[in-house]
Amino acid sequence: MVAPRSAQILVASNRGPISYALRDDGSLESKRGGGGLVSGLSAIGSEADAVWVCAAMSDGDREAVRREVGEPGVRMLDIDRELFADAYNGIANSVLWFVHHLLYQTPLEPVFDAEFRRQWASYEAYNRAFAEALAVDAAPEATVLVQDYHLSLVPGMLRAYRPDLSIGHFSHTPWAPPDYFRLLPDDIAAQLLSGMLGADRTAFLTRRWADAFTACCEDVLGGVGKTRIGVHSLGADGDFLRRRAHQPDVEQRLLELREQAGLGRKTIVRVDRTELSKNIVRGLHAYRELLTAHPEWREHVTHVALSYPSRQDLTVYRDYTAEVFDLAERINAEFGTPGWTPVVLHVKDDFARSLAAYRMADVALVNPIRDGMNLVAKEVPVVSDHGCALVLSREAGAYEELGEDALTVNPYDVSATADALHEALLMPDAERAERTKRLAAAATALPPQRWFLDQLNALRA
Ligand code: G6P
Repeated sequence: MVAPRSAQILVASNRGPISYALRDDGSLESKRGGGGLVSGLSAIGSEADAVWVCAAMSDGDREAVRREVGEPGVRMLDIDRELFADAYNGIANSVLWFVHHLLYQTPLEPVFDAEFRRQWASYEAYNRAFAEALAVDAAPEATVLVQDYHLSLVPGMLRAYRPDLSIGHFSHTPWAPPDYFRLLPDDIAAQLLSGMLGADRTAFLTRRWADAFTACCEDVLGGVGKTRIGVHSLGADGDFLRRRAHQPDVEQRLLELREQAGLGRKTIVRVDRTELSKNIVRGLHAYRELLTAHPEWREHVTHVALSYPSRQDLTVYRDYTAEVFDLAERINAEFGTPGWTPVVLHVKDDFARSLAAYRMADVALVNPIRDGMNLVAKEVPVVSDHGCALVLSREAGAYEELGEDALTVNPYDVSATADALHEALLMPDAERAERTKRLAAAATALPPQRWFLDQLNALRA
């Protein structure tokens, strides 16, 4: 346990670095999370007086808190199950995520009614639980780094409890332009922005998202006040990835995937959470158009799609996942032959398999509708075995750094995406290798540890 008022550096995020599952025999199994956030924030691991505050998200997590099982330096908050569901599924993932990724189908949604107000109260209570825990753990004048849209209200709340602290907020998502942000009820829009402006500094992954935030503040509140606005891009962890990508489990996956794709065939690879904003369905339509417009590719290319289930408590995510399955099956039924499966789809989350897919890819398809950064676009060139052409949406944050050496697409333009896939498949080997080298250099320029320390330094400056 953390002694009260002892932590010098505190991080707060909804999802923590570790999660627990209850086994059938009642024991607990722990699992370390992956991804950029965890590796970036892991830089705090080296500081003895650091604490990472996160939510208990599953029954296993809640049980771990009750049994006082845990890791030093990690404080999991046991928030009431229903209250957590309202805050996480209801507000964070169904409202704020939708706003920032422009996901609403506006003739019918959003609807901000009494049910929304009830969930909003839960979101406030959930943010308050974080602010209280941080206020208890933080040493005098400590530094607190609050992460993402789940915790927008924390900076303001914490500031009221503890004016002595240095507080930073970081958004891992895009930020909506003012006209779209103002779909939110006026008082909620104002509360969200003022909550974040409670920080000394609030930062974003790209200049574009930071400017959108500033524009929203000007529109809704008349300005950003004294809060500083920063930009910190997040890059891939090159050393870690290169090492990890050659371990035996990845080699094994590589053999399996090569066999499934068919030896000698080109591969178009994509790796995502099955997430509405990742635009997987339009990506499959583009692949279908490629096979229709260029029949010469039939039997000579395979689309390897790793689409890992995400946020399955939400109906729209379940429906979207089903649509991805159906479409992959339809394409296989339409074009498949006894020796060729046009789409190889895997849904079981498996990091070793992701790395194997990165290594073998001739083309990587990263076509989100909108994405804060997109680390897949940065990880692929780093571990690629023989060079990989990147087809990249101009709406991904990574576009700012990788746009020059990628083939860039408007993610809504299926035909242009099909054309880009064709061009990528035809790219000469030498050009592909050259571009991959430059992409890898750009992708690893700001490794996660740097991202973390830069924020810390900027906040303390
Ligand atoms: C995005 C968000 C993160 C979130 C992740 C996975 O990258 O910015 O805060 O943790 O998606 O989503 P999940 O809902 O599974 O935590």
